[in-house]
Amino acid sequence: MDADRSKAKVMPTDTPELMAQAVREAVALLRVGELVAVPTETVYGLAANALDHRAVARIFQVKNRPSRNPIIVHVASIRMAQECVAEWPKTADLLANAFWPGPLTLVLPKAKCIPEVVTAGGDTVGVRWPDHPVINALIKACGFPLAAPSANVSSQLSATTAQHVQRCLGDKLPLILDGGPCPIGIESTVLDLTCDPPRVLRPGLIHESAISAVLGRAVAPVQAAKHGEPLRSPGLMLRHYAPRARLFVWQWDDETTLQVLLTEHNLAAASCHLITHLRPPTQIKFASVMVLPRDVRAYARVLYAALHECDEAGASVIIVRAPPENPEWSAIADRLARASVREVRS
Ligand code: TXA
Ligand code: MG
Repeated sequence: MDADRSKAKVMPTDTPELMAQAVREAVALLRVGELVAVPTETVYGLAANALDHRAVARIFQVKNRPSRNPIIVHVASIRMAQECVAEWPKTADLLANAFWPGPLTLVLPKAKCIPEVVTAGGDTVGVRWPDHPVINALIKACGFPLAAPSANVSSQLSATTAQHVQRCLGDKLPLILDGGPCPIGIESTVLDLTCDPPRVLRPGLIHESAISAVLGRAVAPVQAAKHGEPLRSPGLMLRHYAPRARLFVWQWDDETTLQVLLTEHNLAAASCHLITHLRPPTQIKFASVMVLPRDVRAYARVLYAALHECDEAGASVIIVRAPPENPEWSAIADRLARASVREVRS
């Protein structure tokens, strides 16, 4: 879509005056049930008043989101989180004190004030206090929590800049607050605290080992995204976080083995876009080659932008070098595995 034909206004937030003005306009829209895209430290969110069921229903429409996929509620204090849940166990207190504000979502029994549309009819709610000045200022000014999934069409790539949101949803919402590129770059860890032991539903940069260390006990690991297995969480659709292009995740030792993979898949290098975190090939000529950082945090920060860039270049095939097989990289491996699944199964 042509960015300038879209109707969303993009408001900068780089000075205190601009921030105050942007927050004022966003609050006015959210109060009357409109949607506003806002930056968080992980990815941009498509926000609505979490207590307004009609506004939340619009999120499902705009994203084309399956109605059985619950939405995370964003708060700006532990007190506000406690108001959204029916129980606040000791485990929640320990984790909130250790990791909030930050990229950890806690699934807990929902309070009555949270409409069923937010929780997809379920009796639990995911709550998170994000670590970004724009959404924190916004929630405080609103005085109500914000329901916000990632600001993208369902199953597609999440947005890590205001421009990504503009391109994907710009014709469907009135306002995007521009807080610059998201400093974390991949979605929060989702932890279910309603089961024993607590279970990671979606891996993120806060690892299971860090959570276990705070709780002083083991937590159940995430179920890997595999074909043909039942879904444990409504949101764990197999194809997800996916660019428009077909995506392959490959491991290779040298350019000869890379060429073998291309031949096996019947692909011409010249029509493939390559993303690697190691030394790029020098003999095989790809349509484009992007070299991402070797540090996992730096890699996470730029991964979605790299995939968006391939889509914008009209790529039909993206080849991503497999990430290291190391627990630190599990969230990246999870996102790439889901992005490489071809069929939507929800
Ligand atoms: O970092 C993030 O979490 C971003 C930013 C905007 O906060 N949000 C985000 O939202 O990624 P979304 O809707 O794209 O992904 C939320 C995930 C989904 O997999 C959903 O199923 C799961 O969290 N989830 C939310 N509430 C849940 C609940 N009550 N029980 C189980 N899973 C839940
Ligand atoms: Mg999402």
